[in-house]
Amino acid sequence: MPISNRFIHHPGEDEYLYDLSLGICEACRMVQLEECVEPEMMFNEDYAFFSSTSSAMADHFREMADRIIDIVSEKPSPFVVELGCNDGILLQHFVKGGVPHLGIEPSANVAQSAREKGVRVMETFFNTECARKIKDRYGMADVICGANVMCHIEDINSVFAGVTCLLQPDGVFFFEDPYILDIVEKTSFDQIYDEHVFYFSGLSVSRLAERHGLRLIHMEAQNVHGGSMRYYLKKKDVSGISTDVERHLARERELMLHKVEGYHSFSEHVNRICNDLKETLLELHSSGKRIAAYGATSKSTTLLNYAGIGADLIAYISDTTPTKIGKFTPGTHIPIRSHDFFSDDVPPYTLLLAWNHRDEILKKEKHYREKGGRFITFFPKVAIE
Ligand code: TYD
Repeated sequence: MPISNRFIHHPGEDEYLYDLSLGICEACRMVQLEECVEPEMMFNEDYAFFSSTSSAMADHFREMADRIIDIVSEKPSPFVVELGCNDGILLQHFVKGGVPHLGIEPSANVAQSAREKGVRVMETFFNTECARKIKDRYGMADVICGANVMCHIEDINSVFAGVTCLLQPDGVFFFEDPYILDIVEKTSFDQIYDEHVFYFSGLSVSRLAERHGLRLIHMEAQNVHGGSMRYYLKKKDVSGISTDVERHLARERELMLHKVEGYHSFSEHVNRICNDLKETLLELHSSGKRIAAYGATSKSTTLLNYAGIGADLIAYISDTTPTKIGKFTPGTHIPIRSHDFFSDDVPPYTLLLAWNHRDEILKKEKHYREKGGRFITFFPKVAIE
């Protein structure tokens, strides 16, 4: 597989390739990549992922900000740290309210975008050493949080040790990432790519937390990124674990997600979806129908490369991210065009790669469908809508 967010300037450009495969450790219950790509290869000044791409995500982060404000409202001098603040989609809400905060972000381009919103950013990777520096300079944090970042960090133990060092004794650490149970139930295998080193469950997070003097006290399902889970952790000496934790853990155990058996039928389902999708596209293509796609997502790199869907089948992908427009998809070399181009073109069929934004996109593209355009979707099975 190529690097999922490394959109290339022209087909033929050299691309770094690695073996994408998952393993499970039955001792610590973690599902993770077997081969990891060096972080600097993924998160740098060319990082293509900007958080502020959809109104649903903007709403999601506004709610998260309100939740944090509730947590710190009684504190005389609150301090909030976000790991992987990206373009400041969350922390911008603390700029206006004057809440002391710090965003940690290693990718220079998105960090700059956060600074332009007034967010205070430290441009680095978070680990134990970084946590000590923050503690010496700003003091301990009341809230440490991260959205779609913890699963990115191979040296997760250094991050957890850093959190333990930086967190106030009564502080809250919460993070959210795509949930393995959703991935298995929906067969949303396109969540599996280089940036996602870990595929967390309550079972694996509780063990990881214990190892670092933390305790999983609450779990909350989130309707973003195709199904995510938010995990709340506190230092071990606190009491009060919500009943939701046991409810989620019981469901995970029921599906055997802590054992390799829990994943036996997964690859079969993946292959069925890929075969059905490719067949559908080939049939449309051979009957002379033009097919475009919608959303040059990171996860589509896995789908397109694994299913063998390239520029011979897909004319172009419509995307609103300025830095992606004019480039080509990793490995499959499909050109990326602007949304204006798509709106003028009205291709008869469009593969909905950004399926996690389905509701928002179908609403937005009402006119496309009224003009006869059809979306091709593929989870939980291939359909033309
Ligand atoms: P995202 O949901 O962040 O997925 P991933 O984590 O897999 O990259 O990516 C959504 C992509 O789709 C992003 O490139 C922006 C694009 N997009 C559009 O072009 N139009 C839209 O209406 C939406 C919601 C997203």
